[in-house]
Amino acid sequence: MRRPVVAANWKMNGIKSEAKSLVKSITNEIDVQSTSASCVLTPPSIYLEYVGSLLNHSMIELGAQNISQHLQGAFTGEISGKMIQDVGCRYVLVGHSERRSIYGESDEIVALKFQAAVNAGLIPILCVGESLAQREKNLTSEIVISQIAEVLNRVDQERFLNSIIAYEPVWAIGTGKTATPQQAQEVHYTIRQYLRTRIHSHADLMRIIYGGSVKSNNARELFAEPDIDGGLIGGASLDADEFIKIYHSARI
Ligand code: PGA
Repeated sequence: MRRPVVAANWKMNGIKSEAKSLVKSITNEIDVQSTSASCVLTPPSIYLEYVGSLLNHSMIELGAQNISQHLQGAFTGEISGKMIQDVGCRYVLVGHSERRSIYGESDEIVALKFQAAVNAGLIPILCVGESLAQREKNLTSEIVISQIAEVLNRVDQERFLNSIIAYEPVWAIGTGKTATPQQAQEVHYTIRQYLRTRIHSHADLMRIIYGGSVKSNNARELFAEPDIDGGLIGGASLDADEFIKIYHSARI
């Protein structure tokens, strides 16, 4: 049995006062129990500690949106795994498509960041996904598998097992175009089959979540698919009611 996870990716949105009211509504309505889905918020890094302090007595967890592949040193503007850990995070997004496309993060850099995350004791949420052009050329499986393989080739298997994979088709992110539950399930199944070839029965324990225009009106159907273990929510996570409904759509 895999415990679903619903994670909010706030991206670069909101200021402190907005973070406060969003977290207040979320903590009022979401009561995370060991028998319910995990809930993770990834606010902008400058607010991590603040949001963490607001989450203090809830079981809602904290994650960062990005991590440096380096341990420490002269890397202006970057944040290390140790720092992320130090402010109370348990998770970190790695390889989000916006990082890959806007900031030129290659599969290799993503793998190094994944490694930095596990070395710091964090749980990476590894984002993978194809562009529209790649889907139209029938390259979806090849792309997502190569993105995962790059990480698996670099990181000890043991250290890979505790991570989460987020399948996020690039054409569905922030566009209002969601993959149908069948389209998403097909890719999640492909990913799990591939993982079976690499990590054998552990593949059945790994959580593979879907991201890309998840809303309260499509979450339940998506999360009902056998290989979809929750979601990574962007735009809709900035609206407390929407996010709360999406969270409650994930059932064990
Ligand atoms: P979206 O973003 O829900 O706004 O499509 C998802 C993501 O980028 O993680």
